[in-house]
Amino acid sequence: MNKRNLFLKHVAQTSALPLMLDVDKAEGMFIYDQSGKKYLDLNSGISVSSLGHRHPAVIDAVKNQCDRFLHTMVYGEHLQSPQVIYAKTLVADLNNGLDNVYFVMTGSEAVEGALKLARKHTERYEIISCADAYHGSTMAAEALRSDTQFTQAFLPSIPGIRHITFNNELDLEKITCRTAAVILEPVQAESGVHPPKNNYLKKLRQKCNETKTLLILDEIQTGFGRTGHLFAHKKYGVVPDILLISKSMGGGMPIGAFVAPSHIMKSISTDPMLGHITTFGGHPVSCAAALAMLQTIKKDDLIEKVLEKEKLFKSLLVHPIIKEVRSSGLMMAVELTKRKYLKHVVSKSIEIGALIDYFLFNNRSFRLAPPLIISNEQIKMACKILLQAMDYAFSKYKK
Ligand SMILES: Cc1ncc(COP(=O)(O)O)c(C=O)c1O
Repeated sequence: MNKRNLFLKHVAQTSALPLMLDVDKAEGMFIYDQSGKKYLDLNSGISVSSLGHRHPAVIDAVKNQCDRFLHTMVYGEHLQSPQVIYAKTLVADLNNGLDNVYFVMTGSEAVEGALKLARKHTERYEIISCADAYHGSTMAAEALRSDTQFTQAFLPSIPGIRHITFNNELDLEKITCRTAAVILEPVQAESGVHPPKNNYLKKLRQKCNETKTLLILDEIQTGFGRTGHLFAHKKYGVVPDILLISKSMGGGMPIGAFVAPSHIMKSISTDPMLGHITTFGGHPVSCAAALAMLQTIKKDDLIEKVLEKEKLFKSLLVHPIIKEVRSSGLMMAVELTKRKYLKHVVSKSIEIGALIDYFLFNNRSFRLAPPLIISNEQIKMACKILLQAMDYAFSKYKK
């Protein structure tokens, strides 16, 4: 049986339509398949590879840590330098009272941990999330999802979840003294990139203060420079009570965290103790990679150049089938005038050699979230391919 058939037979599938790109190697902005075909990566593996693929600083950090130790004990028992140094560095960069880092493995686990922490700390159970948000695929993270057509397949869900609409100020009235936490992304990703409008996040912060509700900001996609600031909450001028990070954090290695002030975080370790535990959370190799990632985005001034690159993309993405380009830094959604164009644009673009993707909750837009290292020349190359793919989609329906 060839590899393709073995993949379909023995590797669990998430859909009937896997992309099936047979990866040979990946370097910088490019992924190469087994035939030697080169793809410009405009997705970053869904906002992960912000430093591109196999960044030398990450590879060195991983190799060095592999030479010292891998797993020694479940999270929280042994004193492991990569965790301690990372936490100290991150907290200094945040510089806003979020001084305690609980390391986990994935974004979903960061969400789970934060929800448990919020319920335990506030002794309330109601959690409010936004319609059309995606926070992960575990039971509690999935319970935050608003599309009941999807969630009904996995009922019963966890109780106590209510929804509000992102950017709707009137909905803030639904946050009350019964609400343990509001969880949302500072820029909503999977609805097709919706940045906050009219100081929405500041008004939300104010309402949470009034009701003593914890504000959980999910920066799993927006973190580490993607929006042109180290974190989007800095861009939009709010401080969360709990910050969620993952995806690009590890420079390509799996890691996540929820970060809170110590006085909140301590609720998870007492009465009962071991309120959240994890075997592999903050794996030393992932922490070493994460530190290299954080140091590199700062050292190479990658964040400062994001807004300029966003502008260049937007100036070049002009086509009769583009309705709108929404963005916050290098987190972009290109909305097309008609839904029928979308699958042609995506498949043609991949065929020509640029990887773009769909969103979970927007069937008219495609996703652009390239590595932050993308050069101006590569942006021009990317837009040329995208315009060619749009020409193709347009021509398909021309009489
Ligand atoms: C905003 C956001 N939160 C949480 C998650 C879940 O992260 P993971 O897939 O690592 O569990 C994702 C994943 O796409 C995400 O985009």
